[in-house]
Parts: sequence; structure tokens; C-alpha cells
Amino acid sequence: MKSKRFRRFYAAALLSSSSVFAGLLAGADALDERLKSHRTGDALSCSSCHAETRVVTGGTAGLGDRRADPFFVSAVIDQVSEASILALADPADADANGISGRAAWVWSLRDRRPAVGRFGWKATVGTLEDQIANALATDMGLANALLDYADATCFPDEPGCLIARRSAGSSNLLPRLSHAVRMSKPSDSPPNGSIYRAGLALLAQVGCNACHQPVLADPVGQPLVLFSDLLLHDLGPDLSEAQRVGSAGLSEWRTAPLLGLSQRSAFLHDGRAETITDAVTAHGGEATESKNLFLALSDADSLELIEFLLSL
Ligand code: HEC
Ligand code: HEC
Repeated sequence: MKSKRFRRFYAAALLSSSSVFAGLLAGADALDERLKSHRTGDALSCSSCHAETRVVTGGTAGLGDRRADPFFVSAVIDQVSEASILALADPADADANGISGRAAWVWSLRDRRPAVGRFGWKATVGTLEDQIANALATDMGLANALLDYADATCFPDEPGCLIARRSAGSSNLLPRLSHAVRMSKPSDSPPNGSIYRAGLALLAQVGCNACHQPVLADPVGQPLVLFSDLLLHDLGPDLSEAQRVGSAGLSEWRTAPLLGLSQRSAFLHDGRAETITDAVTAHGGEATESKNLFLALSDADSLELIEFLLSL
């Protein structure tokens, strides 16, 4: 673990544009680097929101509150093949099990083609670069190679905004941050052994894994443990929101990956649930039957399943 002083030293090197040190920042430290917004003057790092379970409020934009996930979860989502997501889609519920996941098609700025949405609580973003371009532009007020956000939204009293727009294509921020997210690893090694096997069996028994699919695959068929199908599901009225986001309905959400639950102190898209049981109790719609099976588990089984989930 690097000390804070060490990290500051590198950040200072970057600010003076020393290319010698800039290369070293390609690692995880790039995500801790505070970037000064040309628009608001704030200096946020990506980790400011992502390192803890921080909830960003929708505020004046009228958008709903959203919680940010740790980066190692995004690193796994990035590797999933589109085919393995589409293979699980069942939009018309052809197998009549009450669960009808559907893919959210979006436009990818990076690939200039339609892509299956995989990032964001409403699966509105198809690639890691698109997501980071959005984060830079909208969360941090920094235009970048993919998203000249400032363009449409500069106000006359924001001279910095115009500077941000002019410098848009020249920055290497996007590849550097994308690389850093891809290199992110969980701090603990993945759990294994008997708690894991028993927990997996209980997850299947109560039907959570119809959505929280334990394993997806990368483009060459290597398994990726995520506990999500990355599809949109209707979770009913308790999780309905007033404003539509992307192609998802008001109560439709991308199955939240359960990978990384051990690192979260609040659950669900807006962080409203303090415990796993609270999170499951809020499930409705397509997840109603599974929720009822969960709530009917014996105390011992329920504890075992929760212990397993909190080890992920
Ligand atoms: C102001 C807080 C904030 C900052 C700063 C921020 N993010 Fe985020 N990020 C969020 C929130 C909230 C979400 C969930 C957004 C949603 O689904 O609507 C998110 C989503 C993401 C996701 C997708 C996660 C997933 O599971 O789908 C990635 C990847 C990401 N951010 C990367 C970054 C990077 C890289 C940076 C730095 C350039 C960054 N973010 C800066 C708050 C922030
Ligand atoms: C029909 C699909 C579906 C089923 C079945 C389902 N879930 Fe979920 N789950 C979701 C979706 C979608 C979300 C995201 C909802 C939100 O944040 O508003 C979610 C969120 C969660 C979360 C919060 C994760 C986080 O990072 O905040 C937990 C914990 C969870 N589910 C556990 C379970 C358990 C345990 C079961 C089985 C009893 C289960 N789920 C069954 C779709 C499902």
C-alpha cells in the first residue's frame, strides 16, 4: 500500500506534465488523481465517488440518486462477451418462469455501432470508454476525445468551459483511465471452500441466480464470476422511479452484480438498503417468487446465504 505522500508526489509530477512520471500513473493511481473541472473548479478523482459506497444525488437535474460501485467490478463487466449476455435474454418469457430479462441496446461512441448496454444501473452504456467519457464530461466537467459535452452546454459566464472544449481531443486521459479501471483487482482473494459451495446452492434453490447469473464468459469462453446477467428486469413498484432513463422502464434495472458486495456499506441503486435482507425485501415484479422463497428460508439457511453474499 502506497502512502499518501507518495501518491501526492506522483500527482504533482503529472500536474507539471512530466512525461517521465506520467507513464507511471497509468496504474491504479490514475484513478486517485484529482482532476480539476474546467467548469466548476472542483477537483474530484474517480475514486472520490467509487472507493466507498458513495451515493450521488440526482439534485437539480431531477435524476434519481445513484450509488457508485468499486472499479474491479467494472473491470469484469468490461470483459463479458456480448454473446454471453444475449444468450440469457428472454424478453417474451418464452420459458414461462416469470423472468424476462432483456438487453438494452445503446449507441457506442467508441465503436460507432449499436452495443448491448452493460454499464450503469439502467444499462445505458455499452463500453468502458463510453462510460468514462461520460464520467469525465458529466461528473467532472471535463470534455474528452469521445464526448464534447461542454459543446452544447457552455454558458457565457463559463470561460473555462470553452477551454475544456478546445482541448477536447488532445488529452490522453481516456486511454489512461480505461487502462487503470481494467487493471483494478479486488483487495481480497475470492472466497472459496464450503461456505462458497453451500451459498451457491442456496442461491440457486431460491432462484436468485435466474438474474444474478453466477458466471458469464469472455469472448474466448473463459468464465467470469459476476453474479449478474447484465440484462434489464422489472423489479416492481418499490423500485420504480419517476423519471425514465435510457430505454429502461421506470421499474426496470440492470441486475446488480453481487460481486463486490463485501465492499459495499449500502445496497440498491440509491443505497437505500442497509442490509442484504432489506435489499431483497425491496425486490418485486419478476423477482417476487424468489424474494418469497428467500424470506421463507430457515434462520440457519438465511444466515448461510447472507454470509456467502457478504463474502463476495
Ligand atoms: C461524482 C461522483 C463520480 C465521479 C467523480 C465518477 N463517477 Fe463513475 N459513477 C458514478 C455513479 C453514481 C455511477 C452509476 C451511474 C449510473 O448508473 O447512473 C458511476 C458509474 C461508473 C461506471 C459503471 C459502473 C457499472 O457497474 O456499471 C464506471 C466504469 C465508472 N463510473 C467509471 C468512472 C471513472 C473512470 C471516473 C473518473 C474519470 C468516474 N467514474 C468518476 C459516480 C462517479
Ligand atoms: C428478476 C431478477 C432478479 C432476481 C430473481 C433477484 N434479483 Fe437481486 N437484483 C436484481 C436487480 C435488477 C437489482 C438492482 C435493483 C436496484 O438497485 O434497484 C438487484 C439488486 C440486488 C442486490 C443489491 C446489490 C447492490 O449492489 O446494491 C442484492 C443484495 C440482491 N439483488 C440480492 C438478491 C438475492 C439474494 C436474490 C434471491 C433471493 C435476488 N437478488 C433475486 C434482479 C434480481
